[in-house]
Amino acid sequence: MDFGSYIRDIKDYPKPGVVFKDITPLLNDPIALRKTGEALLGFTSNMQIDKVVGVDSRGFIFAPMLAEKLEAGFVPVRKKGKLPFKTVAESYVLEYGEGELEIHADAIQPGEKVLVHDDVLATGGTAQAVCKLVEKLGGEVVQCNFLIELTFLGGSEKLNGYPIRALLQY
Ligand code: PRP
Ligand code: HPA
Repeated sequence: MDFGSYIRDIKDYPKPGVVFKDITPLLNDPIALRKTGEALLGFTSNMQIDKVVGVDSRGFIFAPMLAEKLEAGFVPVRKKGKLPFKTVAESYVLEYGEGELEIHADAIQPGEKVLVHDDVLATGGTAQAVCKLVEKLGGEVVQCNFLIELTFLGGSEKLNGYPIRALLQY
């Protein structure tokens, strides 16, 4: 399937100079939605995964489905202040902002194999912070996968050492 034909460019969103990749047309189409899930699942075929970490908020669209199919647990990484239990935090800078991400301190057990999923890899600041959170809890990141990698922003360099997969590269 030509997944790229379902991605829409929005100029100057959310800030001037950013060309935002909008995935909602892909989510809106039932066939594209199903095939996207299947393709993401294909990235981890034959891999043992204990937890799938999804990143607030667009990482939550596919991560729970991946977790269910992989017979793994789902772990939300959320923006600061949204998780109710004891958390571990990591600050980060992304393409158009900065912030702090949190994970529940008991969400991953030492030695567990973890898939990190988000919709877009841009500068890599977000995914790098998520990988650090997983490692702070003793988890092992076995893959980071995305719908879209914006290769011109060099995010993969920040994820050096972690296997990366993406459905679409720009
Ligand atoms: C977007 C996107 C990734 C991140 C990628 O999230 O969903 O999480 O930015 O950027 P980076 O590689 O430069 O770090 P955003 O913070 O806009 O949050 P949202 O999913 O809640 O819209
Ligand atoms: N599109 C969607 N999400 C993003 C982008 C983008 O271009 N850059 C950083 N997060």
